[in-house]
Amino acid sequence: DLTVHLDQPAKPISSNLWGIFYEDLNYAADGGLYAEMIQNRSFDFSALEQPDWNALSFWEVSLEGDASARLIVDAGRPLHRNNPTYGVFKVDNASGKAAIRNPGFDGISVEEGKSYNVSAFARLLHIGPRWTPAKPEEKAPELIARIVAQNGDIIAESKLPPLTTDWSKLKTSLVAQKTDTHASFELVATEAGGIALDIVSLFPADTFRGRENGLRKDIAQTIADLHPRFIRFPGGCLVHGNGVENFYDWKDSVGPLETRKGQPNLWGYHQSVGLGYFEYFQFCEDIGAIPVPVVAAAVSCQHTGQTFDIGQSCLPIEEMERYIQDTLDLIEWANGPADSKWGSLRAAAGHPEPFGLKYVGVGNEDKMTPEFEERFKLINDAIQNAHPEITVIGTVGPFPDGEDFEIGWSIANELQLEVVDEHYYRDPDWFWDNLDRYDSYDRSESKVYLGEYAAHDEGRRLTLRSALAEAAFMTSLERNGDVVIMASYAPLLAKIGRTQWNPDLIYFDNQTVYPTISYEVQKLFGETRGDEYLQAEIPTLEQRFAASAVRNSESGNAFVKLVNGADNPIPVTLNFASDSKLAKQVKVTTLAGELDDTNTAEKPGTVLPSTQTQKLKKASLPLELPPYSLVIVELAP
Ligand code: AHR
Repeated sequence: DLTVHLDQPAKPISSNLWGIFYEDLNYAADGGLYAEMIQNRSFDFSALEQPDWNALSFWEVSLEGDASARLIVDAGRPLHRNNPTYGVFKVDNASGKAAIRNPGFDGISVEEGKSYNVSAFARLLHIGPRWTPAKPEEKAPELIARIVAQNGDIIAESKLPPLTTDWSKLKTSLVAQKTDTHASFELVATEAGGIALDIVSLFPADTFRGRENGLRKDIAQTIADLHPRFIRFPGGCLVHGNGVENFYDWKDSVGPLETRKGQPNLWGYHQSVGLGYFEYFQFCEDIGAIPVPVVAAAVSCQHTGQTFDIGQSCLPIEEMERYIQDTLDLIEWANGPADSKWGSLRAAAGHPEPFGLKYVGVGNEDKMTPEFEERFKLINDAIQNAHPEITVIGTVGPFPDGEDFEIGWSIANELQLEVVDEHYYRDPDWFWDNLDRYDSYDRSESKVYLGEYAAHDEGRRLTLRSALAEAAFMTSLERNGDVVIMASYAPLLAKIGRTQWNPDLIYFDNQTVYPTISYEVQKLFGETRGDEYLQAEIPTLEQRFAASAVRNSESGNAFVKLVNGADNPIPVTLNFASDSKLAKQVKVTTLAGELDDTNTAEKPGTVLPSTQTQKLKKASLPLELPPYSLVIVELAP
C-alpha cells in the first residue's frame, strides 16, 4: 500500500522545478529553432568554423543561356561595422539566367500555399575596376526572388523593389505553389550590373506567435508543451566558447539584425545571433517561462582542448571592470526603465516594459582554478552590490563528484550563494543508485539548480531505460524540491544529421519534430508540477521502484508519480487519507514499453503516454504498475 496524506501539512517545494536548458548546439538555433531558412545569409562564414568554409559558403552562381556572372566577397562600405563582409553579384551578361543560389540548411522546405517573407540589404554598384555606385543613366538590374524545387521547377517567384545606390532593405513575399522538402532559394538579376548583398533572408510568414524574426512554429510549440517554468540560455559551453574572444557577448546579439555580430560557435559552425537575447527573452515571455541568462565567469570553456592557460583562456584582470559593466548593463537592458541607456534598446526593439529578470547564471561547469575563483568573485560581488534583487546562480564544476565539485561548493559556501548549478550525465544505473542524493543536502547551504542532466544508455542512446531512470530521479527531486529549486534536462534540441552531442531531448529535421521518450517524461512532469510535497508512506521494494506525491496549491490537484523500473508488474493500492470528501474518480496516465524502446525519426511515437479515468473506491485505488513504466495519478479536489 502507498498512502498519500492530504490530511497532513505538506512541505513547500519549488514551483519552478521543471524548466529547460537551451544551447545553440546541434544546429539548435540557426537551421533549427530560429526560423531563418538561408544559410550564411550575411556572407560571414569562415574557416574558423569549418576548415573548408569561407564567406561565400552555401552560395553558388547559377547560369543559363548566354549569362555570365560571378559572386565575390567584399568589405568596402559595409552595411555595418559588426557585419564587415558582404557578397557582390557581378553580372556581365544577364541573358538567359544569372542567379545566386542558396540551398538553405540541408535544403529549403516549403509547403504548398504557404507564404514566405524575403528580405535583403542591397546596393547597386557600378561595374568597373572599382565597386563605385552605378551611374543613373545605366539600366539598373533588379532582383527576382525565387524558390526552386529540386526538379528545377520555379515554385514561387516575386520581384524585389528597385535597388538603390545606398544600402536599403528590400522586401517581398513568396507563396509556394508546390510542396518541396529540398528546394533552394535564388536571386535572379534582370540586367547586367553589380549588386552588393547582405543579410539575404527567407522566413516562413507563419512563425511562433507571429513574431517577426521569429521561431519555427513546430519546434517552439514542442518546447512550449513542456510547460517549462524557466529557460536557461544561451549555453552551456557556448557561453564561454573557445577562448576569451569567443565569449557569447549579449550586446552583439541585440538591436537591428544588421548591427549584430555573428561569430564561430564552439560546436563547429556559425552562430548568426539572429536568435539573440531579445528573442530569448521574448520567447520566455511568450511561453510563461522565467529567463535565466548565463554569462561566462570571464574564463573560457574547459572542453575546448586548449590548455587552461591564463593568457589564452582567462580575461586579463585589468579588463574585468569593462566585462562586469557589460553584465550590469544586461540587467539594465532587461529590467531598466524604457528611458534608461540600455532599457531604451529593449524599448526600441518593441518591449518598453521590463522583462522582470530575476536570475543571472555566472559560469558554466568551470574548472575550479584560482583564475576562475578570482573572476567569479568580482562578478558576483558587483551584481550583488548593484542589484541585490538579482539572484546569482554559481557553478560547482563539471562533475558531481571530485575536486572541482568540492571546491565549487566551498566557494558557494564562502560567498553564501543562493543557488549553484550542478551538472551530470551518467548511465541509467547511476540515477537509480542515487535517488537519495539530495536527501542529505544541508538545507542551510546554497540551493541547487540541476542545470544539466541526462541518463545516457549504452552507446549514448536515449531509451525507455534512460527515460525511466530520469523519471525515478525526478521523483527524488520533487521530494527534495525544498533544496533543488530548478532542474533542466540537457541538451534540448538536435537537428538530425547535424549533431555534435547525443542524446538530446528533441530531434528535428526541416519538416518534422521528433520528441524522445525522455521528452514525454519531462512533459508529464511539467504538466503535473506541484508546489507542495505531500506526506506519503511509500513502501521500499526489493526491485527498482520510486514514487513521489505533490500538490499544486493553485488548482488543488494532487499528483502521485510511480516508477516501476523492473520487468514484472507491481500491484499497488493507492490510498488517499483526507479530511474532506474526495473526487469520485482520478486520471491515470501510463508511459510503458520495453527497456530498449526509443522514439526516433524512424520509429516516432513508439512509447507514448495514455490516460484513463478510474473510479476511487473509499479513497482507495488498486493499481497494477506495468513492467518498465511511469504511472501518474491525478486527483482533482
Ligand atoms: O549540454 C552539452 C554540454 O554539456 C554543455 O555545453 C556543457 O555545459 C556540458 O558539458
